[in-house]
Amino acid sequence: MSAHLDPVPGQAVYSPAILAIYNTAVLRVSQPLAWRCPSSRVVALYDDHVSTDHLDIGVGTGYFLDRCTYPGPPRLTLLDMNRNSLGKAARRLARYAPELKQGNVMEPLDLPEESFGSVGMNCLLHCLPGRFSDKAVVFENIKPLMRPGAWVFGSTVLGALPGHNLFGRAILASYNRKGIWCNREDDLAGLETALRQHFDVVHVDVVGGSALFRAQR
Ligand SMILES: C[S@@+](CC[C@H](N)C(=O)[O-])C[C@H]1O[C@@H](n2cnc3c(N)ncnc32)[C@H](O)[C@@H]1O
Repeated sequence: MSAHLDPVPGQAVYSPAILAIYNTAVLRVSQPLAWRCPSSRVVALYDDHVSTDHLDIGVGTGYFLDRCTYPGPPRLTLLDMNRNSLGKAARRLARYAPELKQGNVMEPLDLPEESFGSVGMNCLLHCLPGRFSDKAVVFENIKPLMRPGAWVFGSTVLGALPGHNLFGRAILASYNRKGIWCNREDDLAGLETALRQHFDVVHVDVVGGSALFRAQR
C-alpha cells in the first residue's frame, strides 16, 4: 500500500485513555454539536438494518452495537485494526460473545463468504486514508462477505460539505493535520459514486455535516 494510503494514523489514536472518553467527547459532544447529527439517528440506522448475523467494522467502544435493537439473538463479528478497540467493544458486548478479528478493512478480509446479513461501519470512512476513489476498496472487500439482500450502512463526516460550523471546522483542521482523519476532499458525489461502483441499491442522507448511507447487495 502506498504511503498516501497508510491506514495506521486513523486507528493508532484509539488508546485505552482515548476510548475511555470517546463516548462522551465524540458521541455526546462533537456528534450533535460539530456534526449536527445526533447519535439517536445512528441508533435508528442500526435498528433498521442490523441483522442477526452482523459484521461491524471499526468498532470503537461498541456503543451502537450495545444500544441498537436486533431482530433476534445476534451472532456478532467485530473487525478492527486496533486491539484496544476490539477489547473495549468485546467487554461491552460480552453478553453476545462476539467473535473478534483484527484486520485492515482496506485489504481483503479473511472471513467466510456470504456469511453476513448486515455490515455496519459507522464513523470509519473519514478515518481511512485517500479519497473516496481509494476508500471504495472497502466496499469491494466486504461485498463477497455479504449475503444477497444484506445491507452495509453507517455514517461518515463529509469534510468537503459547505456549511460546517466553527467547532466542526476546527475539528476537521486538527484531525486532518494529525492524520487521524483524512476527509478534507470527502463529498457527497464521491461517496455515492464509491457505493454505486459496488451496489445497485444506494441511499445517502445528509444530516448536518454527516452522510448516513446504506446500500444493499
Ligand atoms: C471513529 S472510531 C468509530 C467507532 C464506532 N464505529 C462508532 O461509531 O462509535 C473508528 C474505528 O475504526 C477503526 N479503524 C480505523 N482505521 C481502520 C482500518 N483501516 N481497518 C479497520 N479498522 C479501522 C479504529 O481503530 C476505531 O476503532
